[in-house]
Amino acid sequence: MLKPQALRPLLAAMVRAEELSRDVALAQALIAPPPLAPVLARQGRQEALHALTFRRVLQCLPGNAPCPPALVQVMDAWQARLMDDVQAGRLAASLLGLQCVLEGLACAALAPPPGELARMADAWVPLRPLVLHQEMAHRKLGTTWVARLAPADGAELRSARADYVALGGELLEAGLSSLDCLAADADHYRAAVRRELAGACPGIPDGHPTPRRL
Ligand SMILES: [Fe+2]
Ligand SMILES: [Fe+2]
Repeated sequence: MLKPQALRPLLAAMVRAEELSRDVALAQALIAPPPLAPVLARQGRQEALHALTFRRVLQCLPGNAPCPPALVQVMDAWQARLMDDVQAGRLAASLLGLQCVLEGLACAALAPPPGELARMADAWVPLRPLVLHQEMAHRKLGTTWVARLAPADGAELRSARADYVALGGELLEAGLSSLDCLAADADHYRAAVRRELAGACPGIPDGHPTPRRL
C-alpha cells in the first residue's frame, strides 16, 4: 500500500527538475532568434509555476524526505551541461538537452500507468494533466526548432544527443534505485524512457546512439 509520504522524494525531484527547466529556458530566451525568444520566456514562466505547484503539494505531505542525492547529482550534471551549451551559444544543443530529452522524460514521469501511483497522483496533484499538457508542448517546441537549426550544427548536435541520451539513462537508473514509489511500475518506466530517448529529435541526421546505462 502506497502512503502519501512515499510521493515526497518524487515531488522533490520534480521541483528540482522544474527549477532547472525554468533557469535554462530563461537563459535560452536571451540567445534565441526573435520568433523563438518570447516563446522560451513564456516557457520559463510556466516552469516557475510548475515548480511552485509541486512545492505546494510537498508542503501538504507528511514527512520531510528530500530529493534523493543520486537524482540531485544527475540533475546537477544535466544543468551544468545545458548552461555550458547556452553560454557557448549552442542553442540547438541546449534545446535538444532540455526540451527534447529532459522534458520528454518529464512527460513519462507525469503519466504513470493506471494503478496506485496514478490514483495517488490524481489525489495529491490535481494540476498534473495541465502540467503534462504544457510539458508536451515544450517537447514539441524543442523538436521543431532543433530540426530547423540542425543543418547548421549537425556534428555538434550528434555529440550533444549522445551525451543527453546517456544522462537520460542515468536519470532513469537513479530514479528507479532511489524512488520506492516507482518500484511497482519499474517495467513501465523503463519502456517509456527507452521510447522517449529513442525518439528524441528524429530530425537530427545520423544520430541514433545507444544509451550507456539502459
Ligand atoms: Fe515544467
Ligand atoms: Fe517544460
